[in-house]
Amino acid sequence: MTRSSKEFRSDTFTVPSERMMEAIREASVGDSVYEEDEDTNSLQKRIQELTGKAGALFFPSGTMSNQVGVRSNLHQPPYSIVADDRAHVYRNEAAGLAILSQAIVYPAFPSNGLYLTLEDIKKRVIDFKDIHVATTKLVCLENTLNGIIMPLDEIKRISEYAKANGIRMHLDGARLWNASAETGISLKEYCQYFDTVSLCLSKGLGAPIGSVLVADETTIETARWIRKQQGGGMRQVGLLAAPANVAIDEVWPTMKATHLVVKKLAQYLEEELSYKFEGPVETNFIFIDGPRSGVDIVILEEEAKKRGLNVVSNRLAFHYQISPEAIELLKEAAKAALERSREIGVKPEGGDSEGIAVAGSKSGSHKYAPVKN
Ligand SMILES: Cc1ncc(COP(=O)(O)O)c(C=O)c1O
Repeated sequence: MTRSSKEFRSDTFTVPSERMMEAIREASVGDSVYEEDEDTNSLQKRIQELTGKAGALFFPSGTMSNQVGVRSNLHQPPYSIVADDRAHVYRNEAAGLAILSQAIVYPAFPSNGLYLTLEDIKKRVIDFKDIHVATTKLVCLENTLNGIIMPLDEIKRISEYAKANGIRMHLDGARLWNASAETGISLKEYCQYFDTVSLCLSKGLGAPIGSVLVADETTIETARWIRKQQGGGMRQVGLLAAPANVAIDEVWPTMKATHLVVKKLAQYLEEELSYKFEGPVETNFIFIDGPRSGVDIVILEEEAKKRGLNVVSNRLAFHYQISPEAIELLKEAAKAALERSREIGVKPEGGDSEGIAVAGSKSGSHKYAPVKN
């Protein structure tokens, strides 16, 4: 097994393919701060076209692209942002919204336990002017979130409401590639409802480094300014843009097949071993519900390690370089972890009826337990 073929920690653990390495060797070496790097310009143009936006800007990371994207939507504080309570931009970006955007965040909770609805968002929006409050100026969504796809109809409802109320919309589309590959809904269709969208190149798409922010030209001009200020203006960045271009050609078309492997594995775990999950398996993640499965996750990590696999926590992440052999070994590890957990007296909490929907599985009609507020 190669280094990445047994990596279940994150979909960021891919290694550049041969074609990507070739592209790096042949990459253009212009100065991208001066907007003179051909491969960067052509990648930005390509993503502009794919997303239907007038501007696109390369960033070194999804965090920077999210944070600068958010900041570029906002003017004169005080203001507030509504974001999903589980959102990366809110929870996992080192308080960037407070520091770079000086924003207070009102987290919103998905009442269906899966994705935010307009009603969930409205509960957290401050839509009146009063000197005691910080009016909502931005809604941040994430698609996919924990591997769950946000329905286009709901995005549309939220966007119509936001527009009517002078609220801008940002999408953390780190894995919008996955959503689009799975649903067949184009990036353009998704992106039309957002002012800014951050798309990661180095998650499931498999490029070594980078993210791209898309928006209208004026917003991208602002973003370029802030990117420079934050130290994100890069020079011969064609070395990163060239393999990202290859990743779109080479890896994106394989994403749906990767999702199928994940769903089949989830089905095996659920039907053969009675594993339970924290959410539906729709794209490239499985979140094992340890307590309800009666599995000690530390034991699962140990069993995976014994077989040369890297598993950390209850989140199993998948990407195109995971090998069929690693999937078989993971099944073995899951079985062994279950048996060892039973031996030490770990019992599954709750009943079968609380099982979680896995697309295509026998228990597909089961309801996912809602997130607690
Ligand atoms: C949903 C989401 N958004 C943004 C990011 C940030 O990306 P990066 O690690 O490139 O900063 C991540 C990283 O895992 C993520 O999962």
